[in-house]
Amino acid sequence: MPLTSSSGPLRVAVIGVGGVGAAHAHAFAAHPDVELVALADAVPGRRDAVAAELGVPRVLGDWREVLAADGVDAVSIALPNALHAPVTIAALEAGLHVLCEKPLATTVADARAMVDAARTAGRVLEVPFNHRKRGDVAFLERYLADPGIGEIYHVRASWRRRAGIAAAGWFRSRELAGGGALIDLGPHVLDLVLHLLGEPAVRTASAAVHGRLGTAGYGRSRSAAPVRDGHDVFDVEDLASAFLRLDGGVSVQFEISWAGHAADDEDISLEILGVDGGVRLFSRWYATEGTVEVFRDVGGVPAVIRPAVDGRGGDHHSVVRDFVAAIRSGAWAEHDGSLALRRTEVLDAVYRSATVGAEVEL
Ligand SMILES: NC(=O)c1ccc[n+]([C@@H]2O[C@H](COP(=O)([O-])OP(=O)(O)OC[C@H]3O[C@@H](n4cnc5c(N)ncnc54)[C@H](O)[C@@H]3O)[C@@H](O)[C@H]2O)c1
Repeated sequence: MPLTSSSGPLRVAVIGVGGVGAAHAHAFAAHPDVELVALADAVPGRRDAVAAELGVPRVLGDWREVLAADGVDAVSIALPNALHAPVTIAALEAGLHVLCEKPLATTVADARAMVDAARTAGRVLEVPFNHRKRGDVAFLERYLADPGIGEIYHVRASWRRRAGIAAAGWFRSRELAGGGALIDLGPHVLDLVLHLLGEPAVRTASAAVHGRLGTAGYGRSRSAAPVRDGHDVFDVEDLASAFLRLDGGVSVQFEISWAGHAADDEDISLEILGVDGGVRLFSRWYATEGTVEVFRDVGGVPAVIRPAVDGRGGDHHSVVRDFVAAIRSGAWAEHDGSLALRRTEVLDAVYRSATVGAEVEL
């Protein structure tokens, strides 16, 4: 049985050590209350390199080998999106706590099944919404609570790349990824909006998605020529634009793109408009300074205030720290993946609206 809050170090296995899984492995290895006991990846060179660097004793191939192994209390899943649901459900059924990368799942049905599995097993299911752990986001949380910006009525939220289609091929396959730019970058942007607004329900979505640049071979690289060989799968969207109506009348203009012949605004941009003021979060190219602006009238004239806040802290060390703390707290029912399920439901509504060409209800 998995350890409870009173026993020795938490024994963790990381499943998938590609781009972000390697970061998970490093963060778990650095945590004082964790023993990184195993890691698994389908690519031998990849798993061996991370294991050697971190001194991990057990190196496995397929994810099923991890679930069959003894002495594991929790797993961290950083696999292609379509594997999130089956691996998470199997891990929970094996009595393990789960940290599963975003998006929680590629369908709402799968996401619900994952939350149900967490509740039935009585184990933690968390998703790394790492951006909300940034210092500048924490500042905005405090500022919106006090002094606030008056009644909030509209939000502009985006993550727009000029040529940033994800490198690994599975990201461009609907079957393996469940979607494109929206399901990849959208969870983070949506999480910040809903988190900073106090988790209002989303009522409707009206959206369009396009995959024109990806299919034309554009958008793969910021420095190289378009890829036009036509052999690679690209059956997902590279741009999604949505209009959301939230409970209480707040509207959200939401745009996500991997590619576009436009300014390269890499990273999240958020503008929250209130009756008495506005705030903007914009960390262009992952900048960690100068990311927040506050707009309000000072002495009767419009002013822009640039608070000296630190935008760092949105890495996987914060995610791992909070995941371990959730397990140690014993309050596992509060960490059942339902927050991530709500994001999945909104993204699904955006896709549904784009498919039918009309506003849909959630
Ligand atoms: N939170 C974040 O900021 C963040 C950042 C990047 C990626 N992600 C998410 O993390 C996940 C992984 O993304 P990535 O960029 O690391 O992808 P990646 O392709 O670099 O890594 C995925 C790894 O899974 C391995 N794998 C595939 N099938 C396997 C199997 N059956 N058993 C064992 N290993 C298997 C692959 O060999 C690969 O190394 C995705 O869901 C992505 O959305 C999150």
